[in-house]
Amino acid sequence: MMVRHLFRMNIFLYLRPNSNVENKNKKNYFKMKITVVGAGNVGATCADVIAQRDYANEVWLLDIKPNYAEGKALDIAQAAPIHLYDSRVKGVTNDYSKTAKSDIVVITSGLPRKPGMSRDDLISTNAGIVKSVTENILKYSPDTIIIIVSNPLDVMTYCAYLTAKKPSSKVFGMAGILDTARYRAFLAEELNCSVKDIQAVLMGGHGDTMVPLPRYTTVGGIPVTELVAKDKLDAIIDRTKKGGGEIVNLLGTSAWYAPGAAAAQMAEAIALDQKRIFPVCALLNGEYGMKDIYLGVPVVLGKNGIEKIIELKLNAEEKKLLDSSAKAVKEVMTVLDNMKVLA
Ligand code: NAI
Ligand code: 2OP
Repeated sequence: MMVRHLFRMNIFLYLRPNSNVENKNKKNYFKMKITVVGAGNVGATCADVIAQRDYANEVWLLDIKPNYAEGKALDIAQAAPIHLYDSRVKGVTNDYSKTAKSDIVVITSGLPRKPGMSRDDLISTNAGIVKSVTENILKYSPDTIIIIVSNPLDVMTYCAYLTAKKPSSKVFGMAGILDTARYRAFLAEELNCSVKDIQAVLMGGHGDTMVPLPRYTTVGGIPVTELVAKDKLDAIIDRTKKGGGEIVNLLGTSAWYAPGAAAAQMAEAIALDQKRIFPVCALLNGEYGMKDIYLGVPVVLGKNGIEKIIELKLNAEEKKLLDSSAKAVKEVMTVLDNMKVLA
């Protein structure tokens, strides 16, 4: 009786539905190597989510703080038998040779915001960190795709691009997926509906000037403006713009679960060549009438990185908001230029 019971349990384990089966069948599964620089809150969460999705055989965490990445990686790796994934997660202190031949690198190293600080207050310290990390990464992984997370995001991504001297399709930043996720979460809460049914796009810089676009927001295919009253929608948009600050004020440091998951979602779209359409911080070269600036815009993300920037037909009011967001980003770019960090 007992044996039969165990046998049934075993069968159950083997037949257990595995959400990762689809990923494992992808042809590039066995050779994917992903490095996450910065094993702090966002970096460790990102590595954990990547490992759980099981599309990379090697996930490396690197940090400058001795033993920190090793400890975080060990903890994450010990969850593998519980989550049932095969990705190997390893940590290293500042030895970039271990990250050699990474296909994708996510850079999260840098100071997070504290209460009273704006993302831009982090510029001088984080620009130096992003520059040196980018140089070190490229010594060992010259062909890698780089996703920047460090703040102030748009300008740090520009900083990495100038340092890397690689095509901008291979160097871009994560903010839009996070900001859109916050917007979608608030809308789902307001409508008491599934987040799965909310599609939205949000553009501009990763700051209080970001531009959520209600005209491009739908709930199960229905324009959001038909379901949420204007004053409520305005309040949700305002909360989204200040979403980062809301968490800083609650926690005393910035968010990490949603940011880490958002960066991991970008890595996944690239690793599995999904051609997902996401808002990504991308270099504009004439799109939306702008040049030489990194800004959040919808793109197609696949194995080559940014495969296309999608140009929406914005109305006059939306274009005005995007222009003022670009102006705010340009101001921070000027601060960075004046610091001569990249000289
Ligand atoms: P954290 O302080 O928990 O982790 C940062 C890690 O970077 C630390 O472990 C630190 O030792 C490491 N580090 C510093 N200098 C380094 C170097 N030269 N090489 C390697 N590692 C180095 O901070 P957290 O919360 O993980 O945030 C990381 C960054 O991400 C911050 O700049 C934060 O503002 C930004 N962020 C960006 C978001 C976005 O949407 N783009 C969202 C949330 C955070
Ligand atoms: C966030 O939006 C602070 O950029 C960080 O949570």
